[in-house]
Amino acid sequence: MKNNLSVNHLLGIKYLQKEDIELIFQTADHFKEVINRPIKKVPSLRDTTIANLFFENSTRTKLSFELAEKRLSADIINFSSSNSSVKKGETLVDTVNNILSMKVDMVVMRHPNPGAAQFLSQHVNAKIVNAGDGAHEHPTQALLDAFSIREKYGHLKGKNVVIVGDILHSRVALSNIFCLQKLGVNVKVCGPMTLIPKYINSLGVEVITNLREALNWCDVAMMLRIQLERQDMKFFPSLREYSMLYGLDKQLLDSLDKEITVMHPGPINRGVEITSDVADSKQSIILNQVENGVAVRMAVLYLLAGKKE
Ligand code: CP
Repeated sequence: MKNNLSVNHLLGIKYLQKEDIELIFQTADHFKEVINRPIKKVPSLRDTTIANLFFENSTRTKLSFELAEKRLSADIINFSSSNSSVKKGETLVDTVNNILSMKVDMVVMRHPNPGAAQFLSQHVNAKIVNAGDGAHEHPTQALLDAFSIREKYGHLKGKNVVIVGDILHSRVALSNIFCLQKLGVNVKVCGPMTLIPKYINSLGVEVITNLREALNWCDVAMMLRIQLERQDMKFFPSLREYSMLYGLDKQLLDSLDKEITVMHPGPINRGVEITSDVADSKQSIILNQVENGVAVRMAVLYLLAGKKE
């Protein structure tokens, strides 16, 4: 097992090797044990300063990174674009360089534009962690998702995972396809063809348009939210119709050939892609995903901070 990542930044799962992901998981196993101790803090990132820059809304990712950083004893500064000088026309590079001049070592950034994290890594002198860039990638979400499946089944290789819903606008879908395939998981997607990207087959991913068929094939169903904020036109007649064809309710879940595991990256739109009785059922590991996010993000930050360029 290697003990160093092959990358200096976490920009996307696309750039990771299988061995990088395995190292992150092994490190996250250790941190998961740490955060379940009475004393949850370790001094690993003492003297490391991390800036959390959020140019787009977030609940889970922002809080999870912040908690991960605190558990590692890092110093933290938080930035939200909604109450910053970005509103006065300052560019991304100027904003970040001003923050870095305060001696910041790492930047965790969420941004609405695909490629923003990659762009930043080429223009500023700090380790960059992509916390979601538009409809492109959300690497730590995919890592925590795969970690949660591994925890549930003990292994990933050979498992069948279907990602259901708005694949076209989802950074979670793309990062999960890269991550799960690297780990030997069979991945298919399910949804209306208007919400499936045209390039999907080039990723080696098959499309199933019938939800029941997709669910009977899979061990794990990853339900996604319809990303209305990224849609400038209508992709289906109504949310009600979408929900009838692609929403997962308890009746459908209970009628399947086998017991499957249900996941969702959040935020959930209860009653649209998933009903409350499914989200809160014993087959759902949605809150385990959130819990694992802290340990996985601790692992990512710890490994990147220790990486010599
Ligand atoms: N899963 C996820 O990225 O959630 P947030 O948008 O709340 O961070």
